[in-house]
Amino acid sequence: MLKLEAVSQHYGSFRALTAIDLEVLPGELVVLLGANGAGKSSIFLSTSGLKKPTGGSISCFGSLLTGRTPSEIVRKGVVLCPEGRKLFPQMSVRQNLTLGAYVHRSDNSGNKRKLEEVFDLFPILAERESQAAGSLSGGQQQMVAIGRSLMSRPKVLLLDEPSLGLAPLVVKQVFEAIKRINKAGTSVLLAEQNAYAALKIADRAYVLESGRIVMQGSPESLMRNELVREAYIGA
Ligand SMILES: Nc1ncnc2c1ncn2[C@@H]1O[C@H](COP(=O)(O)OP(=O)(O)OP(=O)(O)O)[C@@H](O)[C@H]1O
Ligand SMILES: [Mg+2]
Repeated sequence: MLKLEAVSQHYGSFRALTAIDLEVLPGELVVLLGANGAGKSSIFLSTSGLKKPTGGSISCFGSLLTGRTPSEIVRKGVVLCPEGRKLFPQMSVRQNLTLGAYVHRSDNSGNKRKLEEVFDLFPILAERESQAAGSLSGGQQQMVAIGRSLMSRPKVLLLDEPSLGLAPLVVKQVFEAIKRINKAGTSVLLAEQNAYAALKIADRAYVLESGRIVMQGSPESLMRNELVREAYIGA
């Protein structure tokens, strides 16, 4: 469904992505591993229309995303949950979640149903719905960020390092939620440095190094791979 073909990305003369071929099939949970600066976020910015790729093409369900605006891409069902959460800290949890429904703003009843789904997935957010998002814990803020993306009704959810800065127990909860979202039918592309936890829930994975895909395969094959273990998992 989501397909990147020969995608390149530049920042000025710096080449951040080179000939990226990457695919997410319907129902898949695909993990993108890569160290700091490997180009994970660049892939997401290109895909979500926030930074136009300098070469190649990106499509979803056969329709071209390259050249479309970010909100058109959201309407196509490709939704980014950005690195660093990007919440509005003074606004309430509910207001932050509602922002995700912007492209569906005319469908009140649909949005109400979606909000109930988000509260089912993250009951703590229902308890805290009137609280300022900035006053929540890091893990709860990540749940708001994921919840806001769900309000956009993704067919493919792009998650950029959702476990960053979270305690191990919270990471586990966030990964369980991601697994549930995927099991409920949303395809997921998940960028992570937390390789072990990510590979455990993945159907397939890619390894990105200096803007190139250097390896891909089943989670088991990558978990067994010497170089992957050394770089991302530790002995
Ligand atoms: N706005 C920018 N201007 C110049 N260079 C940039 C810009 N954004 C990213 N880069 C460079 O592009 C490369 C890829 O960055 P990117 O943010 O995609 O990596 P990443 O894998 O998401 O890293 P991290 O794990 O630290 O988030 C890096 O070398 C980075 O320095
Ligand atoms: Mg990044």
